[in-house]
Amino acid sequence: MDWQARPRCDEAAAWPLLQAHFAQHFAGTRAFDLRQAFADDGAARAQRFSFEAAGVFADLSKNLIDAEAQRLLNQLARECGIEAQRDAMLTGERINTSEQRAVTHVHWRYESNQPPALSGQARAASESIANTVANATAVHRAMLDFAEAVRADERITDVVNIGIGGSDLGPRMVVQALRSSGHANGPRVHFIANMDGHELAELLPRLQADSTLFIIASKTFGTAETMQNAASARAWFLAQGGSDVARHFVALSANTAAVESFGAGCCFAFDEGVGGRFSLWSSIGLSIAIAIGRAGFEALLAGAHAMDRHFASAPVENNLPVQLALLDLWNRNFHHFASRCVAPYHHGLRSLPAYLQQLEMESNGKRVDTRGRALEVASAPVTWGQAGSNGQHAFFQMLHLGTDVVPVEFVLVREVAHTLPGHHAKLLANALAQARALMVGQAGDAPERHFPGNRPSTVLMLADLSPRSLGALLSMYEHRTFALGALWGVNPFDQWGVELGKRHAGEIEAALHAGDAVDLDASTAILIARLHGS
Ligand code: F6P
Repeated sequence: MDWQARPRCDEAAAWPLLQAHFAQHFAGTRAFDLRQAFADDGAARAQRFSFEAAGVFADLSKNLIDAEAQRLLNQLARECGIEAQRDAMLTGERINTSEQRAVTHVHWRYESNQPPALSGQARAASESIANTVANATAVHRAMLDFAEAVRADERITDVVNIGIGGSDLGPRMVVQALRSSGHANGPRVHFIANMDGHELAELLPRLQADSTLFIIASKTFGTAETMQNAASARAWFLAQGGSDVARHFVALSANTAAVESFGAGCCFAFDEGVGGRFSLWSSIGLSIAIAIGRAGFEALLAGAHAMDRHFASAPVENNLPVQLALLDLWNRNFHHFASRCVAPYHHGLRSLPAYLQQLEMESNGKRVDTRGRALEVASAPVTWGQAGSNGQHAFFQMLHLGTDVVPVEFVLVREVAHTLPGHHAKLLANALAQARALMVGQAGDAPERHFPGNRPSTVLMLADLSPRSLGALLSMYEHRTFALGALWGVNPFDQWGVELGKRHAGEIEAALHAGDAVDLDASTAILIARLHGS
């Protein structure tokens, strides 16, 4: 199937079959009951809805889905040409249709220049991506040499990554995760993203100019927050008596022309085909490499690559990212669940929900398909969450007894990286207990204490939180997001929706300074009048 000729999910032959199946077995009084499903064939069910790839285990069996829905969803995936779309991405076709670009983040994690084993047609096309792979390998080599030099340089005690969105959320989450699991042993790494100067102002007093390296991370090298923070950091550096800007500032960007005027010592460039929210594998990952070293960063790439190979070759029925995307579609477009709660039960993964918000909502928060037609089904739900077990004492009341049913995704790590006795078994037990309690519920002795149960959850499990396992997990989330967008027929790789607010910000900043809001609406004018001079 030509990837461009594929139907949208709601135009596929399986769609009305899924609607009929849902109406018959999941809607109204005949609603599917998980407890009954497990009573009927628990072991088979647990087996049928368990998947494993590249060290990531997934238990989907506590979701409101049955074997027939799964069969029809697999049929839907084929009818939507999910494999053709996947191969088109992996072989460098211009699948980012609105920007007329290939998507190349996967090409940044090939091991030793070996493209993944693809079908005949795809293998032929993959030669065309050889340049991207060669460039990625060269940039990685230079970037990792630089990272090792910084790690070996005892004068550098602090590294500050200045970037926002994809130039912050991925690196910040990975460094936090691997620091927590004992894999980060380089200089202290800090992250500055917000336009709000309080974030940078809070950090600067803890730094010394001559022992700090600033990384200016920006694909466009034009994002207002990053440019403002970079300018403030350079001003602080000079005010502290720092003179060698070139030695203490390095840039990461796809816009090398714009970097020149900043005066950074060097720029590790990446290509336009790497989307911001998919960029931690590219030179945007420098802060990660400085924190975990060359071997660690290569292991991160290798883990992601192992998941790429699985995604590239596993049939739909056993393809973990595709199966998760099909479950997301079933939950969103048939059960009409408006959000998904991500609860990582590892302190190190506390920034995973924030990272996934950008990955999933900036990718699939779309209202038109790649042909410009308005969607007739709902697209990206709200992704939210917090690390477990903290969330249990914040929003699990709502998850158990609220009116909205919210699928919960627990992320567990079997091995522990600390030596404090008594914690880990309790943590894991709490996660499994919450998933079970959501399902089984409990009759209450009073209405407010009645747990309806039959509430869905997924458990993802890693053996450990290492660079390799984390690489595989994040690659899984990327391919899941891509596959879901492909089913909806949207372009997961553009983000035009972020531009309008930025444009208004320029106008309003001028109005704030001038105290003149004549051309703006009355509400904004009142607010500007109150803020003028601030
Ligand atoms: O405004 C959204 C966005 O464009 C994201 O897609 C991107 O990750 C972020 O801003 C930062 O962009 P840049 O890396 O170009 O500074």
